[in-house]
Amino acid sequence: MGWQVLFFISVLSLDAVQGQVSYSIPEEMNKGALIGNIAHDLGLVVDRLKSGKARIYSGNTEEYIELKRERGVLLIKDRIDRETLCGQTMQCALHFQMILENPMEFYTVTVEIADINDNPPTFERSEMKYEISESALTGARFILEKAIDNDVGVNGLDSYTLNPSDNFVLKTISRGEGTKHIEMVLQKPLDREKREHFSLILTALDGGEPQLSGTIQITITVLDANDNAPVCSKPEYTESVKENAAIGTVITTVSATDMDKGNNGKITYAIPKSAASNLFHIDPESGVLALKGKIDYEKRRVYEIDVQVSDQAGLSDACKVIVEVKDENDNPPSINIMSKSNTVSENMKPGTVLTMLNIQDPDSNENGKVMCILNDNLPFAIKSTSNNFFTVVTDSDLDRERASEYNITVTCSDEGVPSLSSSVTLTLQISDVNDNAPVFERSSYEGYIVENNTPGLSIFTVKASDADWNQNARVSYILEDSSVNGVPVSSYVSVSADSGVIHAVRSFDYEQIKDFHFRVKAQDGGSPPLSSNVTVKIIIRDQNDNPPQVLYPVQTGGSLVAEMVPRSADVGYLVTKVVAVDVDSGQNAWLSYKLQKATDRALFEVGLQNGEIRTIRQVTDKDAVKQRLTVIVEDNGQPSRSATVIVNVAVADSFPEVLSEFTELTHDKEYNDNLTFYLVLALAVVSFLFITCLVVIISVKIYRWRQSRILYHSNLPVIPYYPPRYSDTLGTGTLPHVYNYEVCRTTDSRKSDCKFGRAGSQNVLIMDPSSTGTMQRIQSEKSILDESDSLEVRWL
Ligand SMILES: *[C@@H]1O[C@H](CO)[C@@H](O)[C@H](O)[C@H]1NC(C)=O
Ligand SMILES: *[C@@H]1O[C@H](CO)[C@@H](O)[C@H](O)[C@H]1NC(C)=O
Repeated sequence: MGWQVLFFISVLSLDAVQGQVSYSIPEEMNKGALIGNIAHDLGLVVDRLKSGKARIYSGNTEEYIELKRERGVLLIKDRIDRETLCGQTMQCALHFQMILENPMEFYTVTVEIADINDNPPTFERSEMKYEISESALTGARFILEKAIDNDVGVNGLDSYTLNPSDNFVLKTISRGEGTKHIEMVLQKPLDREKREHFSLILTALDGGEPQLSGTIQITITVLDANDNAPVCSKPEYTESVKENAAIGTVITTVSATDMDKGNNGKITYAIPKSAASNLFHIDPESGVLALKGKIDYEKRRVYEIDVQVSDQAGLSDACKVIVEVKDENDNPPSINIMSKSNTVSENMKPGTVLTMLNIQDPDSNENGKVMCILNDNLPFAIKSTSNNFFTVVTDSDLDRERASEYNITVTCSDEGVPSLSSSVTLTLQISDVNDNAPVFERSSYEGYIVENNTPGLSIFTVKASDADWNQNARVSYILEDSSVNGVPVSSYVSVSADSGVIHAVRSFDYEQIKDFHFRVKAQDGGSPPLSSNVTVKIIIRDQNDNPPQVLYPVQTGGSLVAEMVPRSADVGYLVTKVVAVDVDSGQNAWLSYKLQKATDRALFEVGLQNGEIRTIRQVTDKDAVKQRLTVIVEDNGQPSRSATVIVNVAVADSFPEVLSEFTELTHDKEYNDNLTFYLVLALAVVSFLFITCLVVIISVKIYRWRQSRILYHSNLPVIPYYPPRYSDTLGTGTLPHVYNYEVCRTTDSRKSDCKFGRAGSQNVLIMDPSSTGTMQRIQSEKSILDESDSLEVRWL
């Protein structure tokens, strides 16, 4: 923008003599610049100027303006600075005169210097520094340095701006004379903690065109005041810690900040007294929160700790630390027996509830999940009914006889790792039910008793045991009714109810009964009672209570039987055979024969086993006719019993010889010899005839019987006795016949006199004075033989 040169010509002030002219020029025109055509303006011709030697007079102001006479113009001689010329004076003009000579004339010339905006506002300093406390209140004022603008008027200082203007605003105050103060006013509190330093630019502006400005930097340092309470870095800390963590375990570090400086910002941490203060400790300086005591999840799961943070001046904040206690599997399950049966009957059905248990595990989740089991091999099971409730039930049939008591161990374990468990032992008694019958120790019993026992003798004991208990196992023994040979068994034996001892009621006779059996019942005391029975067989043992009985030779009171031995008999001649029986049995009936006394011991011997009497040397004429042998028959019993028999032997070749001898013999016995002899003789003949007939008849009968080939079955007990069968092997004997006896047939061994078939020889000489007795005997024999088909007598 160029500067316009303004010409102000005051025509009004021009007069004839003394003219006056004014010009207005801006300051700072270039040297040589035209101010005005003064010649023209004054109405003068240039020549006049020349002739008048026109010049300007201005005191000391000349230097700025020069007159060019030849052209009649005023020019700028030197640069004019209005501010130098006039300072802050608004009207600034140069006054001078132009003088002419020939005629002397002078003219007043005024050159007004107009301001141009050539000066910016300026500040004395480049920077202003302020220190302002942050506690300064809003409205606080701070005077600022003014700017200076040498220009005047509109070009002078016009306004200020402050930038940025967040905290401060500018305020200009006019005090009298128009001098302006400028202030900056705090409109928003300062916060050192937010911003410690501010740098503001104050700009001063003038009103010129173009506008000029000057700036100054305002540096503000905010001074700290303890205006900040400490502040927790986090309003809430959430941490977790395992229960049972060791004392001293660091949970977290609480931190707080205090934006104040120095002591104002020094923070201490503390936990106010509370329940948690016993468990937690905070380092006052570092804020490290650590465990001080034992924490237990089961007591409390969450702790809220208020940590107080405070600065030295007592400003404080509270940080909250939430400590979650994490569960550890530190509690074994606890087993509470809610109800239980101590005793259960053995006939309980499977599924019977025995015990109810409640299991508690204060741990959480897996650590508190509990399962229970029973020890192995028990007829019980454990069932979970609902949460934490378990029942122990019977799983199979119980049997008190197998196990009368159980120790049921219930073990409950949680699912924590490692798992914790606890157990409880329940003792269960099984009560008895009468479900077992008594059982005899043996399936059958056999007892022995020796005959001729004393009545009341105990034979043996039956024993039954009952697996049940107490009354259910109390066994009584009962003799079951039966009969032995038509007699109630109770008349034979009795059974002691308590002990099972079997007593003989009577004295037994082996020869009458050899054995019998009966049943004994064992019954327990249960309700209803159970029983079982057993067969008992009693075997009667033989005793040697019967002496041997000599069947032959027949020993009759007065009769005299003699065996005849011819004098010509060789050595070993069979004289006769002593036949004896013993109704006992076994050893007791095993007979042996011995010669006890003999007229001549050297002549005869008796077969030990068979009772045969034989000669042992040649008979001589010197031998007495009459030989008397006493044979003793002994059985083998202990002690043995014996019988003796006297065998008369006549060593003679003829009857008369014998008779003569035996007459003497009988004479000794004071018999009426003659009469007796004849009677005997007669009877012998008769008997001989009779027997001959009898044999014939029987032979016929047997023949028939054999023809019929009917096997014989006897329904009667038989004690057969077979005397040794004899055959004369040497062929020298005079008994060319076979003895075959079937002797004893009896239904009652006590009637120990056996019936017997006759054995004899034609050489037998029977001399019995009481002939009727013999006859009777023969008769009775016949009748017996008739009665029984089994009897066989062969007499050849
Ligand atoms: C059960 O335990 C008790 C005591 O420990 C013991 O006396 C008894 O013999 C045990 N019973 C069984 C059947 O194990
Ligand atoms: C004896 O026991 C058997 C089974 O061992 C039984 O069959 C019988 O009836 C019982 N007798 C009596 C009389 O009780």
